[in-house]
Parts: sequence; structure tokens; C-alpha cells
Amino acid sequence: VSPLRLGIAGLGTVGIGVVKIVQRHADLLAVRSGRPVVITAVSARDRTKNRDADLSGYAWETDPVVLAQRDDVDVFVELMGGHEGAAKNAMEAALKAGKDVVTANKALLAHHGQALAESAEALGRVIRFEAAVAGGIPVIKALTEGLAGNAIRRVMGVMNGTCNYILTRMESAGLPYETVFEEARALGYLEADPTLDVGGIDAGHKLAILAAIAFGTKVSFDAVQLEGIGKISIDDIRRADDMGYKIKLLGVAQITGRGLEQRMMPCLVPSSSPFGQLQGGTNMVLLEGDSIGQIVLRGAGAGEGPTASAVMGDVVDLARGLRMPTFGQPAATLADPVPAVASAP
Ligand code: NAP
Ligand code: HSE
Repeated sequence: VSPLRLGIAGLGTVGIGVVKIVQRHADLLAVRSGRPVVITAVSARDRTKNRDADLSGYAWETDPVVLAQRDDVDVFVELMGGHEGAAKNAMEAALKAGKDVVTANKALLAHHGQALAESAEALGRVIRFEAAVAGGIPVIKALTEGLAGNAIRRVMGVMNGTCNYILTRMESAGLPYETVFEEARALGYLEADPTLDVGGIDAGHKLAILAAIAFGTKVSFDAVQLEGIGKISIDDIRRADDMGYKIKLLGVAQITGRGLEQRMMPCLVPSSSPFGQLQGGTNMVLLEGDSIGQIVLRGAGAGEGPTASAVMGDVVDLARGLRMPTFGQPAATLADPVPAVASAP
């Protein structure tokens, strides 16, 4: 049986996590995929950087576009980040070169998902991105597969591990913002530009992607009402706690009488509620369907192992020959959303 050959662009937190899983679980992956899963080539900016994995068996490309076009790559795994430049160029090159793509890049999908999905489908290729939303939690699979028989009514959740980590550590350990921010960095939670995390933008990207899948609409990140956690002080957190509440960066997407409402902003939730009890980098997503009612998915929302776990789920699906359209239905069938006018959270 021919192996599935991966080319991995990006050898940071997530990329190295993927390398480790492929190396540690070669047998498991082969059995589950029905064929070996191997890495043939890797790419990052700095070849001399000391990385926490043995990369000696893989070809090196400094240019990810070249990696994406290599004959010995079947699946281009994009783990560089950024919604313009290298990631976008390399993904487009990969699709044109006949490769399927796995990515964790929510920023790219939130800004260019429609065009990339249309291009992939026109070329008969597949883009998978479970790792882009809620880290290790298989929420895309839940929406596109397990809940495919439901009309989705609502998607709600805590989707940024950094913010939840900062909010909960400041309270539980009484540590200043700067200290817990550095802890989050050490855990591999932060985006390369952490203002995306604390500004709520990263969580907004994720909500916009989930809304597109849930409601069959084109990704409309510009219509997300956004506010981050930058203005939340330790005093705010303590006052909320005194009243029996926690502050969470909580997102909601739902179809209302006025159109598609997408909000991502700090909210007060009862301390005793499942959302109120969410600690550290944990994420939680509530999905509501007309047949199933509500289900809740909870787990690690960021970091090396959880995110690489989600990437590998997509890789194994491709190795098995599963070829889901990017947003769970053909891109051409996604509707133009009517954004709801802002309303108070
Ligand atoms: P990271 O640690 O900053 O790693 C980025 C990697 O990409 C580095 O190896 C870097 O090379 C390489 N890179 C960046 N620009 C490049 C370019 N122009 N050409 C070639 N290589 C380039 O980032 P990360 O945390 O692994 O995140 C990667 C992606 O996963 C992002 O899209 C992020 O949003 C997403 N994601 C991350 C997490 C998480 O918990 N960290 C979770 C879910 C999704 P050098 O090492 O040489 O600098
Ligand atoms: N920076 C992101 C977070 C990584 O903290 O949730 C996971 O998408």
C-alpha cells in the first residue's frame, strides 16, 4: 500500500507536535489509516534553530511554496500561521499542484476561506482544518458529521485558551497580568501576534468559521461583534466573583429574526455553571441542533499536543480517503449571510 506523504510547513509549537505524533504513533496511524503515514519534507524559516524533535530523516525546504509543490508530498500541512503572505501563497500553490491541505490557520480561513474552498473544490482537492477551532476538541467533525442531520440553532463557546488561561490564573493564583501572560506563552498558547488573542480576534475567527459551517453561510468575520479582554482588570474579576459570576470571553452565533448574529465578548456567567468552571487553557463549545437539542464539547483548546492531535485526525481522514468539502457543503452552495444589527450581550 502506498504511504500518505506529508510535507509540513511550520515547525513551531504545532508543527513539532505533529512530527512527534507521526514518529511516536507510526504503527497506530498505519493501522487506523490503512496505510503508512510518513513525513517526507519540512519547512521553517530558520534551519539552524534547535527544535525539540529529530528532523534528520526529512528533506528541508526554506521556501514553503517549494515544499508545497514537491512530487513526494501528497498532503501539505500548513502550520505557519498568518492570513497573508507565506501561508496563503503556499496553500494556493499546494492546491494547484494537486495536494490536499491540512491547516490549523483560523486567521487564513476567516479571511480567505471562501476563495480557498472554491479553489480547492474546482481543483478536486480537500482542505481540512479541525485544529483551527478549539484546539484538540473535534468540533468541526461534530458539526459536519455527527450533527449533519440537524438544523443548527446556536453555537456558543469559550474558544481562546490564552484568554481563559489569563482570566482564570489571575483570579486563582492572584498573579499579575504580565506573569500569567508569560505562562501562557510558555505553554505554547499564544498566537505569533498575541494581540489577536487578548483582542478577541482569534476567538472571532473561530466563531466565524463555526458559524459558516453551522448555518451554511459564507464566512463573515467582518460581521462578528468583537471585544477582547484587554479592559478586564483583576478588580473586575474579583467583583464578579463576589457576586457569584466569572468573566469569560464567550462567543455566540445564532440566526435571529434579524439575521445572523455573531458576538465574541467578555460576559458574566454564573460561577457554578459549566462555563463558569472552565479553568486554564480549556475550551468549551455548546452546539444546539433541532433534533439533538444541546451538546457540549470540552477539552484542551491550545498547545502542542492537543492541537497536533486535531491535525492528525484530519490527516488520518485523508489517508482513509474521506473527502469532505471544506465547510461541510460545497463552497458554491454557501449563502450570503445577512448580518444581524448589534445588540447588547
Ligand atoms: P509558531 O510556534 O510561531 O510556529 C510557526 C512556525 O512557522 C515556525 O516554525 C516558523 O519558522 C514557521 N514560519 C513562519 N513564517 C514562515 C515563513 N514565512 N516561511 C517558512 N516558515 C515560516 O506557531 P504555532 O503556535 O505552531 O501556530 C501555527 C499555526 O497553528 C497558526 O496558524 C496558529 O494560529 C495555529 N494554531 C496554534 C495553536 C497553538 O496552541 N499554538 C492552536 C491552534 C491553532 P521558525 O521556527 O524558523 O521561526
Ligand atoms: N492562541 C490560540 C488560543 C491557540 O489561545 O486559543 C489555539 O487556537
